[in-house]
Amino acid sequence: MSKTKKILIVGAKSDIALAVANKYASEGYELQLAARNSSELDPVVDDLKIRHETNVIAYELDILKYERFPDFLDSLACLPDVVLCAVGLLGRQNDDQQKFLNSVLVMRTNYEGPSLLLGEIARRFEMRGHGSIIGISSVAGDRGRASNYIYGSAKSGFTAFLSGLRNRVYKSGVNILTVLPGFVATKMTQSKNLPSILTAQPEEVADKIFAAVKTKKNIIYVRPVWRYIMLVICSIPEFIFKRMSF
Ligand SMILES: NC(=O)c1ccc[n+]([C@@H]2O[C@H](COP(=O)([O-])OP(=O)(O)OC[C@H]3O[C@@H](n4cnc5c(N)ncnc54)[C@H](OP(=O)(O)O)[C@@H]3O)[C@@H](O)[C@H]2O)c1
Repeated sequence: MSKTKKILIVGAKSDIALAVANKYASEGYELQLAARNSSELDPVVDDLKIRHETNVIAYELDILKYERFPDFLDSLACLPDVVLCAVGLLGRQNDDQQKFLNSVLVMRTNYEGPSLLLGEIARRFEMRGHGSIIGISSVAGDRGRASNYIYGSAKSGFTAFLSGLRNRVYKSGVNILTVLPGFVATKMTQSKNLPSILTAQPEEVADKIFAAVKTKKNIIYVRPVWRYIMLVICSIPEFIFKRMSF
């Protein structure tokens, strides 16, 4: 079996995931890319192979099909060294709060699916004795706001899950990185008018993730300014906060 390090990227069609794939491939990693409708990854696989002269394999995975997770992990050519989960669904708060099943989809996609998959991977890494897991959560999970609390609460659950997992597997040599990106210019945010000073490019996120895994960081805000913004938002007393609408 090849000794080259491998990264499994789940939600591989995401713009952030693609930037991470390019970064890791440029650093000599082999890539395992998992996505739903994975045939859409074919051009990406070809491009990555040519660009980086590395081994790239695509796998089918829908994050909502939990019962398939063990078979999916067993089907990997080998257990990777690093795993990134970039799956996410922003939803539309105004619609979703009126439609119960829309909320279910946002909650399951951002919290249940990623947590259950990464939990199972952590169990396998723990038995092996090493591995790095990266979960992309969101600053929206730091405090619920009227404009995005369905997505935000699911991300909050995901952040808490990653925190507990880190706590549990620490002694086994498995590292868990929680990424809190702030705004990123991707398909997810393309309809929004984002301030450039607060908005990272996917490549910037990928560079920060690579450096943070290397130095075994626990939690990163991609642009440090977000740590201070969220500190202020989280410090506002509830009796004032509930009167604000943002
Ligand atoms: N962009 C931002 O400002 C921002 C900020 C904070 C956090 N994040 C988080 O960063 C991560 C990456 O997002 P992005 O900005 O790169 O957006 P994106 O390009 O829209 O990526 C989201 C990905 O999730 C995948 N996905 C959704 N439901 C799925 C399912 N049931 N099974 C498998 N894959 C599924 C989508 O697959 P399809 O292509 O098949 O639809 C898509 O590739 C997400 O977790 C997001 O919440 C983004």
